[in-house]
This record gives sequence, structure tokens and C-alpha cells, in this order.
Amino acid sequence: MTKHNMTERTDRPTPHELRIPRFTLGNGVVLSAETLRMFEEAIGAMRHHKEIYTDWGFGEIDPMGRNMILNFYGPPGTGKTLAAEALAGTLNRPYLHIGISELESKYVGETAKNITAAFNAAATEGALLFFDEADTLLGTRLSSVTQGIDNEINAMRSTLLIELERFDGIVVFATNFAKNYDSAFVSRIRYHIEFKLPGFDERKQLWGRLLAPRIPLAEDRTLIIERGAAASDGLSGRELRTVMRTAFPRAFIENPEIPCVRWGHFESAIADVRAANQNVGSRRHEKALSSAAEIEAGRRILGVAD
Ligand SMILES: Nc1ncnc2c1ncn2[C@@H]1O[C@H](COP(=O)(O)OP(=O)(O)OP(=O)(O)O)[C@@H](O)[C@H]1O
Ligand SMILES: [Mg+2]
Repeated sequence: MTKHNMTERTDRPTPHELRIPRFTLGNGVVLSAETLRMFEEAIGAMRHHKEIYTDWGFGEIDPMGRNMILNFYGPPGTGKTLAAEALAGTLNRPYLHIGISELESKYVGETAKNITAAFNAAATEGALLFFDEADTLLGTRLSSVTQGIDNEINAMRSTLLIELERFDGIVVFATNFAKNYDSAFVSRIRYHIEFKLPGFDERKQLWGRLLAPRIPLAEDRTLIIERGAAASDGLSGRELRTVMRTAFPRAFIENPEIPCVRWGHFESAIADVRAANQNVGSRRHEKALSSAAEIEAGRRILGVAD
């Protein structure tokens, strides 16, 4: 099916949808102290935004600062999508989730219109506007446009800039790390919030969250959490979830009558996740290397280098 297929467009789903957050930052996401601190600062600024910009009249002097734009960046599976929902929950607002991949790949010709519609809907509903997987969106506009799809991306970026200027609500972008952030976007983003792979303490919290209280465990729960956190260094929150998804059914396979999860089930599941990462092979390795360089370059562009 080509990107310009007309029949696919007629029954397309809306590229954005208004959702009610299921949790808040306090009860739904495990974050490092550093990331939490950045959230606290951003939330503080958002809570007093109206006072500063409207009541104090600073909006007349700083019209570009009327909106609040955040960028969540970091490796896959570290909780960026989760945190966007949780931020909306903390701020007691609905949120509009915009899947960029849908926008750019399927609905060629309509992306700019969809973006405008999303901003209008968010303004009407007072919703947090969340552009998930926004790497393509935030990139530099292409100067030598040769193909339709490039035109499309440029149109999307230009529309986004125009809409950002008009909007006075909250916008969150989530990125793995856009390689070439367009400086026009960089200058508009108020807070860059970094998501890292979980450290030991965060892994302990994640294990604690993932081990739902009714899961029958063969060993002491605290001990498993401690061991699990130590044995899963380098894994993301999403990978830890995969560990659980792999380990639990094994307890049933082992003993369908009285299933009970042992440390061994977790241990083998961790090994499987690590093996899967290796087997995707040199590609993951290459990706890790290039993304380290990209992250470095990206940090410099964003002005958040250490
Ligand atoms: N920091 C975290 N706290 C709690 N759960 C997490 C965290 N990180 C990952 N998870 C678990 O992994 C799942 C996937 O995380 P999420 O989709 O938020 O990652 P992401 O950073 O958006 O990844 P990607 O860059 O691939 O979009 C979550 O739904 C949750 O179950
Ligand atoms: Mg995500």
C-alpha cells in the first residue's frame, strides 16, 4: 500500500484523541531524583503561569512565553510516554495524544490540517497537547526538497511553528533524541527533561511496582526486589516489564496446579531479555554507539550539555 493510497484515508481514525489521565507523577512513574527535580520546577512554573503572564502582565512583554513547551528526551522504554500522561494527571487536565508516526506516514497531505485541528481541540478542552515520538517533527526543516514526503514534513514543521506561536497552553514533545533540532523549536522549548535508564534505586521501585501484591512468590518479596534490581542493571522500565511478562507464565508451565514464581524464573527471563538485545545484534550495538554520539550532539544543540 502506498503512502498516497486514497482508500485508506476515508476510514482513517482521528490522529489525536482526548484522554483522561489514569495516574499522576506521584503514583504512576518511577523517576530519578534529578528528573523529578526538573518536573517540580516545570510544574511550579506552570502552576503560577497565569499569575505571572496574565495577572502581572508579563505576557504583554513576553508574548512568545505565553505557552509552556516541554521536551522529554532519553532512550526507549524509560517512561516518557507514561510521564506525559502522568504530568497531565498531576496538573488535573485531560491530554491529547498525537502519534507522529501516524501523522507523517499514513495521512500524507493532511498532516498540517491535523496539527491545526489538534491545537484547536487542545485549546477548547484546556488539554495538555502531547506529541509522542516527535523526533521527525522537531528536526531542521529540509532545504533541498526533492520528494513529496519531504514537502510534507516541511509543511508539518511550518504549521507546528505557527500553531505553537498562537497557542497559550501546555505542549509536551517526547523524543529519543532528534538529531538536528531546528533552532526555531529549541528556542521555544522551556524545559528539556532528561529520562535515563533506571539506576539501582529506581530499579528497586520498578520491581516493587511490577510485583503486584497477589503474585505468589516462592521467596521473600523484599529479597526478590533487591536481587532483581541488582541483576537488571542496564535494562529500561519497559524491559523490566518484559521480564515480568516472560517470568510469570513460566510459573504456570512449571506447575499448573500451584503456580509459584521463583527467583529462577526472573533470572532466566532477565537472561532472555539480554540475549534478545544482543541478538538484534550488532544493530543494537551500532545504534547504541551512534545514539551516544547523537545525544552528545543533541545536548550541545539544546544547550543542556554538562
Ligand atoms: N520510569 C518508569 N516508571 C514506571 N514504569 C515505566 C518507566 N519506564 C518504563 N516503564 C514501563 O514501560 C512501559 C513503556 O514505557 P514508555 O512507553 O513510557 O517509554 P518511552 O520512554 O515512551 O519509550 P519510547 O522512547 O520507546 O517511546 C510503561 O508503560 C511502563 O510499564
Ligand atoms: Mg514513548
